[in-house]
Amino acid sequence: MTSPDPWPEIRGIAYGGDYTPEQWPKEVWREDVALMREAGVNLVSVGIFAWALIETSEGVFDFAWLDELLDLLHENGISVDLGTPTASPPAWFFAQHPDARVVTRDGVTLGFGARGMASHSSPAYRAAAVRIASALAERYGDHPAVVLWHVHNEYGVPVGEDYSEQSVRAFRGWLQDRYSTLDGLNAAWGTAFWGQHYGDWDHVGAPAAAPSVVNPAQRLDFARFTDHQLRQCFIAERDAIRVHASQPITTNFMANQSWTTDMWAWAREVDIVSDDHYLVAADPEGEIGLAIAADLSRSVGGGKPWILMEHSTSAVNWQPRNVAKRPGELARNSLTHLARGADAILFFQWRASRSGAEKFHSAMIPHAGTTSRVWREVVELGDALGRLDEVRGSRVAADVAVLWDFESFWAQDLEWRPSVDVSHAERIRSFYERLWRDGITVDFALPGQDLSGYKLVVAPAQYLLSAADAANLTRYVASGGTLVVSFFSAVVDENDAVPPGGFVAPLREALGVVVEEFLPLREGARHAVQWRGAASLLADAWQEDVVLEGAEAVGTYLDGPGAGGAAITRHPHGAGVGWYLSTRLDAAALRTVMSEVYADAGIVPAAHPEGLEVVVRRGDGADFAVAINHRDEPAAFAATGVELLTGSAVDGTLTVPGGGVAVVRLEPTS
Ligand code: GAL
Repeated sequence: MTSPDPWPEIRGIAYGGDYTPEQWPKEVWREDVALMREAGVNLVSVGIFAWALIETSEGVFDFAWLDELLDLLHENGISVDLGTPTASPPAWFFAQHPDARVVTRDGVTLGFGARGMASHSSPAYRAAAVRIASALAERYGDHPAVVLWHVHNEYGVPVGEDYSEQSVRAFRGWLQDRYSTLDGLNAAWGTAFWGQHYGDWDHVGAPAAAPSVVNPAQRLDFARFTDHQLRQCFIAERDAIRVHASQPITTNFMANQSWTTDMWAWAREVDIVSDDHYLVAADPEGEIGLAIAADLSRSVGGGKPWILMEHSTSAVNWQPRNVAKRPGELARNSLTHLARGADAILFFQWRASRSGAEKFHSAMIPHAGTTSRVWREVVELGDALGRLDEVRGSRVAADVAVLWDFESFWAQDLEWRPSVDVSHAERIRSFYERLWRDGITVDFALPGQDLSGYKLVVAPAQYLLSAADAANLTRYVASGGTLVVSFFSAVVDENDAVPPGGFVAPLREALGVVVEEFLPLREGARHAVQWRGAASLLADAWQEDVVLEGAEAVGTYLDGPGAGGAAITRHPHGAGVGWYLSTRLDAAALRTVMSEVYADAGIVPAAHPEGLEVVVRRGDGADFAVAINHRDEPAAFAATGVELLTGSAVDGTLTVPGGGVAVVRLEPTS
């Protein structure tokens, strides 16, 4: 099941990166294209931060350099992902429109001299962004080099929320659309609490810094509003481009860093999902975070192939300690994205910048030039990707869905929660990591979507759950699904209010439990859970007073405030089973519990050696197993077919060298 081809102009897997020739003299451009050809580069993103050089003053355009550049790239067979440069308005814009500057929650007005868009609610910014997007599309909509449009850069970063006057005005309008009346708003926000009742729309403001904790429902709505306003900025540019150009249009998401934007909603607006991914250098197993981001990028786009718009060849420059990639890591990272559905592997950036804030960031051509190890690996990767044409368009299939709901995360991240030890990111990672180590490929999903195709649905952190979504999950279990819910889920509704019946009540039918009280633990406290009346499992951070309403307690607290109470429950409901885990199990304990969950769901973990990641992409003609060995020792897995990077036959078993990668076109089994 391959997808329709979004860019027939490019053969096979796209390869390249952000290209900023405006930072270099023209002699370097010629060297660049020659080296791009040497490396197998077939796609570069240009113009992303070049507004000041394209529109030199309001309405005055200089396209000469861009004309020359696009022609040069085209003559050399290199396609272009043309950026709209609206993530960095020029100095003249801010001089003319000082009120378009973003104001922070603490009331600081942000100045010029870095990058970052103007207020998402500034009419002057919106008009200027549409003007330059239209001008670019009009000029280059028919240029043969242009195969993709790259609107803006990473909406929501470095600025998302804006507390300026124009943003506050727009927020009021958004609230009027949402609630119609002040009574509706007062009810949704629960303004009877702390005397916050509003009697006049003009008194309703953004949730700026205040003497104490600001109304959480107001903050949640402000997060929704911010996401909406940013998306309107994208839509305005996209629609302006569409008037003149027919190529696909995207904007680059940040699955693992910025959760200001709701990728599910954005994915519906782009023609093809693209994502930027940077390893978290402090994480010794960054490849797991990478897999999460890649699976999320694929999932929000409904499983279609996506574009890895940016990653790094080695270190970045903006983390506390910027760990360089070691030999082979660049290929491993790239192939993991490909394994999980990426059909384009692009980097930030082509050539390292000599000046500016990012001069210590790695690049395809590092400061050390083409005698460097990084350059050699860049060329090798281009060669490897050039052997994988037939993988393009194939899809990843998963039996397991992990719920990922941005609104729930926005709500959970507000202040005054029962314990600082409860984090949605930690919960997602913990369950995902278990599944990853068991070689089980997952999709991410929303709680309200059709889940019937999954054998198992895991809800690691569904703090906010609407009644409708709870009903959907309950139906899923009733009709045969296995659902696992982790603690601090189904706690509030869409207004951050506790639902009637208390915690977990919306899922009481599916899980056979409700929760009477949270029992967070003191820092560092650990406790034990008796499992199936025998083994003892270790856990920490959190316990709950779980009230059984039909579920079986398969794990019981041995000590701590909940001693003697149910810790882990299992509840057959209809044709399925609902599991509830009311504490934070350590990795070994989660492994024990999940092995029973898998049995309920009819899922068999893969038998690959530890550290060997294998993901299958399914194509029309053949399936492809992509294998990444994260260990230094060789590791083998069962496969029969042809290894595409070497062209060699694989007869039953393939051994992947330590740190190596392989892609096998699998022989059909029947
Ligand atoms: C990205 C951004 C790029 C570059 C990169 C550095 O978030 O889109 O322009 O700054 O980070 O890692």
